[in-house]
Order: sequence, then structure tokens, then C-alpha cells
Amino acid sequence: MKNWGKILALVVVAMMAFSAAAIAAPKTCDVGFSQIGSESEWRTADTISVQNAFNEDPSMILIYSDAQQKQENQIKAVRSFITRKVDCILFTALVETGYGPVLQEAKNAKIPVVMIDRDVQVADRGLRLTIMGSDFVKEGEKAGTWLADYLKKQGIDNGSKQINIVELQGTTGSAPAIERKTGFATIMAKHSNWKLSRSQTGNFTSSEGKAVMEAFLKADKNIQVLYAHNDQMALGAIQAIKEAGLKPGKDIIIVGVDAVKGAFEAMVAGEMNASIECSPLLGPQAVQAVRDLRDGKKLPARIWTIEGIYDETNAAAALPSRQY
Ligand code: AHR
Repeated sequence: MKNWGKILALVVVAMMAFSAAAIAAPKTCDVGFSQIGSESEWRTADTISVQNAFNEDPSMILIYSDAQQKQENQIKAVRSFITRKVDCILFTALVETGYGPVLQEAKNAKIPVVMIDRDVQVADRGLRLTIMGSDFVKEGEKAGTWLADYLKKQGIDNGSKQINIVELQGTTGSAPAIERKTGFATIMAKHSNWKLSRSQTGNFTSSEGKAVMEAFLKADKNIQVLYAHNDQMALGAIQAIKEAGLKPGKDIIIVGVDAVKGAFEAMVAGEMNASIECSPLLGPQAVQAVRDLRDGKKLPARIWTIEGIYDETNAAAALPSRQY
């Protein structure tokens, strides 16, 4: 009888231990992601890359918020992540300024902020832990250097004849628009015969790129080069150039940024001349950064993406293996 009592007690203890184990599942890492919207092929690829990388890790939960190109939506999203007490915030800033107070709120709540793709300008750089993505200034410089080389090789630029360049800028106030312009301007400054005849925002979208290029073409019959801060606007501009009865890639040399599939197709068709790569495939890097944080590792202040340049000489060979 005594033994039966012991056995019963052991069974009860074992059952209690089992149910405790069943309840105490390992804690997940909750990550809020404030994305700016879906203005381009590039952005869509970026969102998918981040979502897929987090979905593949069962210890992570990604809470996704699409700001639809509105800064106030981003501020609301970050506040809601703070209220939910997420473990980390991933943040792509629509524009560079105006986020200081909300980032301070995240810091006060001890929630680390990892910038993805687009950075902010804040007095206290410690408001965000790291920024991962591309060097936009370098992209602008690469575009200018590629152009100088191409114009020379084609015998178009002899150093004295004026070269008229039009520019489609990205979203006003955004890091890539500011920095791609700066980088390109550095190279322009070395060519006294290059003239930036027109420069206007096309908001990184194909439709606005087309509309602005239409206006440029109506106002100016003497455009030799289009520099677009992204391929999406370049692709819209190509339509406008065709509708104006001109040959894109021939009558007007076109240099874009991103290296999205659409640009490769245009380059292979001879309608676009070059695209400076800017990789949107930031998901694996982002998930690794959050894992490192969770494991108590220190993140570097800047995580750069390595990128190339594509033009008529290598676009066809690279197109089949492009992921975005
Ligand atoms: O911030 C990266 C830029 O934003 C990409 O070049 C552009 O296509 C996107 O919309």
C-alpha cells in the first residue's frame, strides 16, 4: 500500500513537470518593422527579403507595418511597437529628418533601433544602433564615373562641347535622393562642360518619372543624358522618350540606380545604358543583426552592402541570375 502511494505521488510530480514544460515555451524575439511603402520594384523585393528571412527563423516574430509613404504613419507604427514592448525595431526612414522624438521614446523604452536601407539625420547618433544598406553617395559617384567613361569611349565628350544632363531625383528629403545627388555632383564638378540643365523629383516612381521626363522633353529639345536616382523612374522616363519620338539609350543616354530586372531588360533591349547596383536583399543581414543583439553581441555602427555596376557589356549575362 505504501509503495502505491509513492508511485501515485511520482506520477503527479511527473505530470506537473510535463505541464510546466508545455507552458514554458521558449520566448520569441518580437521585431517591429516600419517599412515606407511599395513605390518601386526595389522596395517590394526589400520587403519580401526581410519577411522571408524572419519567417524562416521560428524564434523570431516580425510585426510588419507599411507606412504608405507617410511619415506620420511611421511615427505611429514606432509608437505602437513601443507599446507592444517589442525586442527590437527595424526602421527604414522615408525622409532623413523629423524622427528624433520618436526614436528618443524608443531609446527611453530601451528598445534598440536598427536602420535598414535609409538612415536618419539626428543630433544623437546613439538613437539608432546601426544602419545596414548601401552607400548612396558612392552610387552617385559611380553613376558619374561610368558616364564620363562612356561619353569618352563613344567619342561624345571631347571635354569642350556642352553635355546637357537632366536628373530625376528620388523622394525629396530622403537619404538616397540627397546622397545620390551629392555623389553625382562631385563627378560633375570635374567636367566643366557638363551642365545639369534640369533636375526635379519623380518620387522614385515610374509614373512620376514619366510625367517629369515628359515635361523636360517639352521644355528642352537638347538633352543628351538622363541620370535617374532609381531605375523605376528611368523606366517611366523611357516611355516618355519613346512617346516623344526619340530613341532611349541612343538619342538620350540613360543611367539609373538599383539594377532591378526591368532595367536589365531595358539594357538588353538597348534602351537603357547603365544601372548602378543597390541591393534590396537585406533580410538575411537584418535577421542576423537581431540574432546578434539577442545573443548580447555588439553590432558595428555601419553594415555596408557590396554592389556592382551593370551596363550593355554585362547585363545580358547577369539577367538570368538576378533575384530582383
Ligand atoms: O532607398 C532605396 C531606394 O528607394 C531605391 O533606390 C529605390 O528604388 C527605392 O524606392
